[in-house]
Amino acid sequence: MLQENVNLKPFNTFGITVHSEFFAPFTSVNELKSLLSELKTKPLLILGGGSNVLFQSDYNGVVLRNEIKGIELIEESDKDVTLKVGAGIVWHDLVLHAIKNNWGGIENLSLIPGSVGASPMQNIGAYGVEIKDVFDSLEALEIATKKLKTFTHEECQFGYRESVFKKELKNKYVITSVTFKLSKSPVLNTSYGAIEEELKARDISQPTIKDVSDAIISIRQSKLPDPKKIGNAGSFFKNPVIPLKQYLKLQLRYSEIPAYKVDEQNVKVPAGWLIDQSGWKGKTFGDFGVHKRQALVLVNYKDATGKEIYDLSENIIQDISERYGINLEREVNIIH
Ligand code: FAD
Ligand code: EPU
Repeated sequence: MLQENVNLKPFNTFGITVHSEFFAPFTSVNELKSLLSELKTKPLLILGGGSNVLFQSDYNGVVLRNEIKGIELIEESDKDVTLKVGAGIVWHDLVLHAIKNNWGGIENLSLIPGSVGASPMQNIGAYGVEIKDVFDSLEALEIATKKLKTFTHEECQFGYRESVFKKELKNKYVITSVTFKLSKSPVLNTSYGAIEEELKARDISQPTIKDVSDAIISIRQSKLPDPKKIGNAGSFFKNPVIPLKQYLKLQLRYSEIPAYKVDEQNVKVPAGWLIDQSGWKGKTFGDFGVHKRQALVLVNYKDATGKEIYDLSENIIQDISERYGINLEREVNIIH
């Protein structure tokens, strides 16, 4: 049902107060199709959990909130299960469902906020796993033609916090379901140092997928602010990938600068370290600032505007560029 002049504060984890001209939840592909017919010429924004968006101003158009539910077991073998999941399912609910059934593959992605439908958008990732590792295919409705199309793994062009839906196909498709392949004999990925430490602290030597999930939940809760208490959208910037040569030069001046190998020529540098070292961590300007435990997270303590947070991100980008010659790229989707 189409609602008018809706306050979007409850629908974005930054907790920014802006209004959308129109707002409509949809629970099925057919409902989505009729809304699209009704709204032909209006600008559209598809919203899931609103945990990776920053609104700059009121939205002059229609916000369509994806609430398509359902988890369907479509194939099962001795080794794995294939699940078709409605785009409106909460991501962490899917993780809990998988853990309950001892299906492995997404336990490292525990507690990432948001919807299943948004998970391929930026190929969500954490603790050494990305959804591309368990992704089979997805269905999406083309807005212009109202036709459903199946996208294969290759067609999604997954990269680090990237997919075709953030690039060429931005705002052209509504993802309606995602199909994943999960393993019945899970191989645990505890290579991220912090996971091993957390398991050790809990005296667990032979972890189950639930143990790994619990450890990750605890690490995340200790580092990241809970959006229910402090408005935020997780990492505001991506970790920059830079040429190894540039890194080695930087290391001469900043001997402590951390990096992770990407390939023979490139390394990834933690943006959180760059921002932290530049003195931004914990800085507060009125209602907004840089989180005190994680410099990669910008926060809204109360009633900040999207513009204030965007301007802060501009200042950080400029400062990091001047100090290190590295251009930070925003991970969060800026909505105008
Ligand atoms: P939204 O914010 O609603 O939308 C994000 C973008 O996707 C928008 O451009 C929107 O238009 C588009 N979109 C949404 N749904 C659809 C759809 N069905 N079809 C087409 N387009 C769509 N991300 C990580 O990768 N790893 C992390 O560890 C992580 N940690 C986080 C921790 C916190 C505390 C927070 C607040 C965020 C974190 N994030 C993380 C970011 C966020 O959780 C993910 O990007 C998540 O996938 C966003 O889902 P959403 O449903 O909230 O998307
Ligand atoms: N660091 C600092 N100071 C800080 C923050 C980080 O020095 O304030 C340095 C430390 O050296 C630390 C390193 O940065 O070892 C990495 O920090 P952390 O392990 O917290 O991870 P991150 O790089 O900040 C990334 C993802 C997160 C994901 C975690 C765990 C990106 C942009 N962010 O964060 O994803 O949960 O790793 O895998 O890749 C998100 O995308 O929203 C998100 C939260």
